[in-house]
Amino acid sequence: MTLTDRLGGLAFGGDYNPEQWDEQTWKEDDELMRRARVNLATVGVFSWALLEPEEGRYDFAWLDAQLDRLHANGVHVDLATPTASPPPWFTLAHPDALPVTADGTRLVHGSRDTYCISAPAYRAAARRIASALAERYGDHPALALWHVHNEYVTLCWCDHTAAAFRVWLRARYGSLDVLNEAWGTAFWSQRYGSWEQILPPRATQWHRNPGLTTDFSRFCSDEVVAAFSEQRDAIREHSDRPVTTNMMLPGYQNIDLWALGREVDLVAIDFYPSAPGLDAAAEAAFTADRARSFAGGAPWLLMEQGTSTVYDRGRTLAKEPGEILRHSLAHIARGSEGALFFQWRQSKAGAEQWHSAMVPHAGPDSRVFAEVTATGEAVARLAELAGSTVTAEVAVLHDSDAWWALNSDGLPSSELDYHSSLRDAHRALWDAGVATDFAHPEVDLGRYRFVVAPALYLLSDAGAENLRRYVADGGTLLVQHFSGVVDERLQARLGGYPAVPLRQALGIRVEEYRPLRQDERITLSDGSHGTVWSESLRLQGAETVAAYTHGALDGSPALTRHGYGDGHAWYLSTRLDEAGYAALVARLLDSAGVGPVLPGLPSGVEAVTRESSDGRRWHVVLNHGPETVPLAGHDLITAGSVTEVPPGGCVVLRGETLR
Ligand code: GLA
Repeated sequence: MTLTDRLGGLAFGGDYNPEQWDEQTWKEDDELMRRARVNLATVGVFSWALLEPEEGRYDFAWLDAQLDRLHANGVHVDLATPTASPPPWFTLAHPDALPVTADGTRLVHGSRDTYCISAPAYRAAARRIASALAERYGDHPALALWHVHNEYVTLCWCDHTAAAFRVWLRARYGSLDVLNEAWGTAFWSQRYGSWEQILPPRATQWHRNPGLTTDFSRFCSDEVVAAFSEQRDAIREHSDRPVTTNMMLPGYQNIDLWALGREVDLVAIDFYPSAPGLDAAAEAAFTADRARSFAGGAPWLLMEQGTSTVYDRGRTLAKEPGEILRHSLAHIARGSEGALFFQWRQSKAGAEQWHSAMVPHAGPDSRVFAEVTATGEAVARLAELAGSTVTAEVAVLHDSDAWWALNSDGLPSSELDYHSSLRDAHRALWDAGVATDFAHPEVDLGRYRFVVAPALYLLSDAGAENLRRYVADGGTLLVQHFSGVVDERLQARLGGYPAVPLRQALGIRVEEYRPLRQDERITLSDGSHGTVWSESLRLQGAETVAAYTHGALDGSPALTRHGYGDGHAWYLSTRLDEAGYAALVARLLDSAGVGPVLPGLPSGVEAVTRESSDGRRWHVVLNHGPETVPLAGHDLITAGSVTEVPPGGCVVLRGETLR
């Protein structure tokens, strides 16, 4: 049974930490949850110290009572395993399970997430408590979902990690000779004579070997996926409810989320914007489109957001009126099966006492709770969207290996940044109003009319051939600077970049990279501007669309286009400014025959369509802009006809009623 089948509609609610409160408050919680139409509460995320006050001695009585109370109140439970926050007794008994930073500092408890994921004692304790919880609550009538851990995030460089890393390397390379060759250890006298000589990339004198650092990232990701899977399997022995874990914010890339997405029953993400206003709306779309893609297009879940939390360079800004609903709907529009928050009631004490919540310190008589209630009401009216999906004709390529590789030391420019390159590509597509997926470079891309490949520094042979085939079969591909430059081993492609099959599709050969100076801004022959990067490239079948107009590159190609097979491949060798990049993306969308989800909407008005397997459609329209937009149809939120969407407003129109 799916989550929404069990809930009878979309999920609404959040993290619930009743152990911070007294009975009087629980009574109020019951009443307020009914008022806000809460139907799912995430319980137990940070409850290890209460659930297991001493090693091996469990106290479930309080959780029994909370689950029964929630159930009696009609609230389902997303029950967490508490393994993100080991209690003090655990760390004192197992000091070797505390994480060690790259510079050798062993952290102590006093915050959260103080564990080494490779420490045997930690892994065993995590399995034990997951199993004990599943045994006790696996069939509880309130239980709708399992929430393993919380935002797997801690990295560690300790001796347990070193030992596990060596096991992983042996499995990957088989022999030291192969590893030495792959990592290029002939340079700087790094040749390893035994496995024991290999260390995690701890603090060292200068640049670290890129093969070592990228493999360490791959290893850390595999360790997390294994730790998650162990808990999931322990749970499945006692319970048939779906199992998830909440993925971290998109700027953190400790885990290959394609791999984690394959292991969970339901992809779940957390969302806290890093800038206010329209940028937050674009970021919501970015995180939501990623989540849907990691879920393979299947429904997924927004596990956490803040009612009033926008992280902005050292400040926590408040959300503007209306944004609680708009941000919730932004995720639901893109396939989320609900909207949950961290957390239900704002803590009066503890490290996150200033983090916003559904019931703020001020209590229910507040703007925030009023908006929460209105949002709960709106989400309840969207039950018929459950299980429907979003179809995109455009994809941005996204590969963890490329991201990790681009974090290597010693690259030609410190301004090469994977995450912001992805954000820029997605933002241009979001501004153009089209639906966008993310896709791994090695998967079948045939369903997309247009594919963008930003910052694909590392590209496997299989990936390069896949992109060549995509173009040959009729696709439109845009490859951006410094892509396809190294293989899986981080070894440079010789004879010119990018990797040969991709070069054939692009009809070019990059001969030399020429990073620009800090703040340098160049002009191309079509009047657009570039920053950060330039390249000297030769045409091998492609035509020049725009040329450089400066220095040694004066007159040579900057932007090229090549008809190849049934498709077209474009190559952009600099980083265009926002306007130039938007114009290029618009041109390519046009040539690939991709239009906006709903044509004619002004900028700042977002539209997404969800479609059910039996062909019903819903258009979610979010007006982030200052103008009223005429749009008529039957709106599920107001359960009536509308003729316009006011500034800040949102509608969910049944497809057949749109006029
Ligand atoms: C994350 C965590 C929560 C909470 C929020 C707010 O998403 O999962 O436990 O800490 O951030 O900071």
